[in-house]
Amino acid sequence: MLPYTVFIMSALGALLLRGSEGIMERAAVKVTNISRVEDAAYFQLYYGNTFKVIRNLLDGKSYLLIQNTSRMAGRTKYCTARIKSFVIPVTNYSLDVNYFPVSYFELLGLLPAMKGMTSDTVASPCLLKMYNDGQVDRLNKSEPQQFSQYTAHFIGSNTNQQTQLCNYVTYAPMGEQAPLQRAEWIKFLGVFANMEVRANQIYDTVKSNYLCLSNAAANKSQKIHPVVAWMEFNNGVWSFTEDGYKLKFVEDAGGENIDASINKKTYNTSSIDDLEQLHAILCTVDVVLDETFTPDPATYNSTFFLQNLHIEDQTCFGFLSFQNLWRYDKRLSTDLALDWYDGAVPQPQLVLADLVEILFPTGNYETTYFRNLIKDEPVLRFGPESCVRDTLTAMEPTIVPCP
Ligand SMILES: *[C@@H]1O[C@H](CO)[C@@H](O)[C@H](O)[C@H]1NC(C)=O
Ligand SMILES: *[C@@H]1O[C@H](CO)[C@@H](O)[C@H](O)[C@H]1NC(C)=O
Ligand SMILES: *[C@@H]1O[C@H](CO)[C@@H](O)[C@H](O)[C@H]1NC(C)=O
Ligand SMILES: *[C@@H]1O[C@H](CO)[C@@H](O)[C@H](O)[C@H]1NC(C)=O
Ligand SMILES: *[C@@H]1O[C@H](CO)[C@@H](O)[C@H](O)[C@H]1NC(C)=O
Ligand SMILES: *[C@@H]1O[C@H](CO)[C@@H](O)[C@H](O)[C@H]1NC(C)=O
Ligand SMILES: *[C@@H]1O[C@H](CO)[C@@H](O)[C@H](O)[C@H]1NC(C)=O
Repeated sequence: MLPYTVFIMSALGALLLRGSEGIMERAAVKVTNISRVEDAAYFQLYYGNTFKVIRNLLDGKSYLLIQNTSRMAGRTKYCTARIKSFVIPVTNYSLDVNYFPVSYFELLGLLPAMKGMTSDTVASPCLLKMYNDGQVDRLNKSEPQQFSQYTAHFIGSNTNQQTQLCNYVTYAPMGEQAPLQRAEWIKFLGVFANMEVRANQIYDTVKSNYLCLSNAAANKSQKIHPVVAWMEFNNGVWSFTEDGYKLKFVEDAGGENIDASINKKTYNTSSIDDLEQLHAILCTVDVVLDETFTPDPATYNSTFFLQNLHIEDQTCFGFLSFQNLWRYDKRLSTDLALDWYDGAVPQPQLVLADLVEILFPTGNYETTYFRNLIKDEPVLRFGPESCVRDTLTAMEPTIVPCP
């Protein structure tokens, strides 16, 4: 345990032990539901009798979560640069939904407590339905005092530390470097709702499915490892990804990452030399995953990709002749929010299953997130009408059949 946390805990211990009521309280509350962090690198959990501490290593903050049944709940309030306190279980909250993976809340069944959001550009059909039905308020991001009426306001990144109110919680699974590490952040949320048991179950289910798929892929790839490039075009420059979790997905799917051997990461298409080098590399690639941002995925097709690459003679490109050019924008909302940034984060087994099918096609698995650009596969749009479950109930993780 790090010295800093020891300090918080002993300070709280002293607080609790002051006077006989404190001692009685300690005896009365049992710590039952506990999550342990197995894989994630950027958060840690500690349990006391009437409180829990989450350390968020991405923003350096510690969240002190006090059970509402504890006497400390009414008396203790921290809001400093390093510690914030919350009374739990949290019964209402709001979200800064921009690129925010709402589906973690859905998996825990916490949508009913969701009361406000900053935009209606969200991928989750059930959240859209609640919003349409008037169960969720639309908040104005420029007026942060609107967020203070909720017990917690979850944000995806902590870019603006200064303007954070006391109820802000930085929830940043995207900051992790591996798919399962990202998925494990379900436990971080579970702690706020006293739902450790469900959070553990979901993570265990997702993890075992992911590992099974990955083991099966390792068998398939014993002889060949298809070479995969994640690449995007931005402002005249092509670049290969440096995101750890994407590279890990390729390895776990039985593929090989292009950048194991290539150290130049960016190619300026105005430079003949750069273009030549890029074309040469792409001649050695089996599968391209095109991440190029587009305001409208529905109209983005292979023509745009080829134009941006300045490819005229296509003969040398195996990924074109074998029709292996894909994008992860298959699922999106009518307002163009990509489910890749939402549903795919807590359920990486679905992404892995897609990649395994892409690398070792069976023809009998339909991809969830990726669409084939050469085959001109269309995007699928989801609106509130696509919410098929009762919004009061939790979403179940999708388990991919695995030998
Ligand atoms: C604590 O929270 C639970 C769950 O929301 C609620 O049922 C209970 O009444 C609360 N207890 C107190 C003392 O606030
Ligand atoms: C949001 O708040 C800002 C600043 O108060 C205001 O200028 C803007 O009109 C508001 N936007 C909406 C959609 O209400
Ligand atoms: C959220 O919950 C807190 C604590 O239970 C309560 O004081 C507050 O009024 C609630 N806010 C809304 C908007 O329901
Ligand atoms: C422990 O988890 C179970 C199942 O989710 C729940 O019913 C119970 O209320 C939890 N207990 C505590 C003390 O939080
Ligand atoms: C991998 O292959 C071996 C030998 O062919 C087999 O025994 C094993 O069950 C396979 N594992 C998976 C996960 O498919
Ligand atoms: C690409 O190269 C062109 C011509 O040399 C230059 O003007 C441009 O700034 C470069 N773009 C980037 C993003 O470096
Ligand atoms: C891609 O879209 C553009 C513009 O809509 C169209 O001109 C082009 O023919 C399309 N390309 C393919 C391969 O369908």
